[in-house]
Amino acid sequence: MTPPARILVTGATGAVGSAVVRALDAAGHETHGVSRRGGAGPRRHAWSIGAQEPPATLRGPWHAVVHCAGDTRWNLPAERAEAANVGPLKALLTATGAATHFVHLSSSYVTGLRGDTVSEVPDDYRNSYEWSKAAAERLVHALRDSADIVRFPIVMGARADGFLDRYSGFFWLPSALCSGAVPALVAEEKGVMDMVSTDDVAAHVVRLLADGPPAGRRLTVLGRGDRARRVDETFDTVRNALNSWRAEHGVPALDRLPYVAPEQWNRFYLPFAEEHLDRGQLTRITALRAYQGYLSVTEPFEVTDRVPDTALVLHRSIRRWAETHEASARRVPRPWGT
Ligand SMILES: NC(=O)c1ccc[n+]([C@@H]2O[C@H](COP(=O)([O-])OP(=O)(O)OC[C@H]3O[C@@H](n4cnc5c(N)ncnc54)[C@H](OP(=O)(O)O)[C@@H]3O)[C@@H](O)[C@H]2O)c1
Repeated sequence: MTPPARILVTGATGAVGSAVVRALDAAGHETHGVSRRGGAGPRRHAWSIGAQEPPATLRGPWHAVVHCAGDTRWNLPAERAEAANVGPLKALLTATGAATHFVHLSSSYVTGLRGDTVSEVPDDYRNSYEWSKAAAERLVHALRDSADIVRFPIVMGARADGFLDRYSGFFWLPSALCSGAVPALVAEEKGVMDMVSTDDVAAHVVRLLADGPPAGRRLTVLGRGDRARRVDETFDTVRNALNSWRAEHGVPALDRLPYVAPEQWNRFYLPFAEEHLDRGQLTRITALRAYQGYLSVTEPFEVTDRVPDTALVLHRSIRRWAETHEASARRVPRPWGT
């Protein structure tokens, strides 16, 4: 596909979609971005996909559609996760002609606990997010003869400066460390935590579109794979980044938290905590549970496209988070039990 192609990007105000729009614009394409609330600037439109008909200006044909819209929250009830991650995709696939190059963004975690996306049973996945994203991949297979499916793991900001348009998911961690919301890191210390930069995903999408639509359904998986950082290295990078920012702002350094293996936590600490902690502490502990699965991945993802190292990207993204969330980054953790 040669520029300028007419391309629709959904989720264009999100962490990933914003970067994809910038990269496609920079490649010389005529990029139209949609999100529920719309965005500032020309060719930025409001469209709640699945809930509304597309505005007249957004009817096709499109050379390409890049579907970045979604809800990455891990703790939604199943029907809400499905409405967020499957419903809009179905509406989009139905409205998109067969000649359009369709690119669907998915997650490396989509293979859940079984290692594939075949199962429709929620218990085969860590949470409703994975379950709904697996259903979305199956839908792409069912409704399109040709499409790109792109999986990638946790997304950090731009390689140059850590910039992100929106913070979600993982950025619960620096916030929790600064507020003292977690008494211990419930994680497999030597587990793997794969990451990419928004730049990696955006550049990959630009390349796929330049190559043109695949002959069938093409799956690519981005990440560091077996060279991904370990959980303990990741936590150290996060803490070092926060502490470097805190030192510059006269805020005391954060201590290293102890690790507790997830099984140990669930069997011994949690029942004890449920008996002895106050409601606020218990709410935070319960919220923490949603993240446990992600901190306990011991098998690296098999990647088709290995991205450059992400340690510096993580450091820069956390510093950037601190700069943009100063009140949270300045907090001094209150010891538990006081
Ligand atoms: N972030 C990660 O770490 C990560 C990792 C792996 C895979 N992914 C995948 O990457 C994709 C993008 O994630 P993200 O982190 O960029 O998400 P995000 O920052 O939460 O942004 C979500 C975007 O989708 C839009 N949106 C949601 N539902 C919509 C609907 N029904 N109609 C129109 N727009 C809708 C939102 O618009 P409003 O703001 O107007 O609501 C927003 O622009 C998702 O498919 C996600 O599963 C993300």
